[in-house]
Amino acid sequence: MCRLVLLGPPGAGKGTQAVKIVEEYQIPHISTGDIFRMNIKEGTALGKKAKEFMDKGELVPDSLVVDLVRDRLEAEDCKNGFLLDGFPRTVYQAEELDKYLSEKNLNLTKVIDIYAGEDVLFERMIGRRVCKNCGAPYHIKNMPPKKEGICDRCGGEVYQRADDTEETVKNRFEVYNKQTKPLVEYYENAGNIVHIDGTIGLENVFASIVRIVGA
Ligand code: AP5
Ligand code: MG
Ligand code: ZN
Repeated sequence: MCRLVLLGPPGAGKGTQAVKIVEEYQIPHISTGDIFRMNIKEGTALGKKAKEFMDKGELVPDSLVVDLVRDRLEAEDCKNGFLLDGFPRTVYQAEELDKYLSEKNLNLTKVIDIYAGEDVLFERMIGRRVCKNCGAPYHIKNMPPKKEGICDRCGGEVYQRADDTEETVKNRFEVYNKQTKPLVEYYENAGNIVHIDGTIGLENVFASIVRIVGA
């Protein structure tokens, strides 16, 4: 049973590792960013609201995020664990998650903080491409799809995210430092956080995660 949170700055490799982690542990991948992007694609009311914030690199207001995640965690497939990617992202969200889990008498197994310097992250995000259909991440240099523009996993269209422009990326770092980084201390106090160097190569990062989370 694994209940995991992936923490870390934009571009640290949360989405990349998530794909591998959920396969290894057979748990659902819950990425709030992916959920919002799906809503934008489908033109829902939530998507329209979220897009205003995402395109600027700002956080979507807590009020739009917390209930969404609570509902998602109620689904049957979360009974045997889950992987949260990009949630929580504010101290308020972390407190709400703690409230939800304690209501159910559950704990987080581990909070995995993937870290890397901003210069590395910047380069990654500018080169990132993503599958429009399944969200699988690619990089034009480090991890290109086998066929240009086409997802290896599902055959979907591989595109550049609207928030992966230079200016927006810079703002996302600022927002991370101000609003999300305090969570490192929050979980340090809770005693269940581990820190993993995100620059040691995809496979090595994954091996470190598996070593820490266990079988
Ligand atoms: P979200 O989608 O969560 O974006 P993010 O946190 O900014 O993180 P990214 O997805 O950009 O990076 P990643 O760590 O997943 O890196 P990846 O694996 O793709 O959120 C987007 C927006 O939604 C937010 O700005 C906000 O507006 C909103 N939002 C979402 N959740 C919210 C919440 N809880 N509250 C409020 N608002 C919320 O990797 C990046 C690139 O690097 C890829 O190209 C990859 O191929 C490459 N790469 C990865 N690992 C390696 C490696 N080890 N070596 C070399 N290259 C690598
Ligand atoms: Mg991601
Ligand atoms: Zn795909």
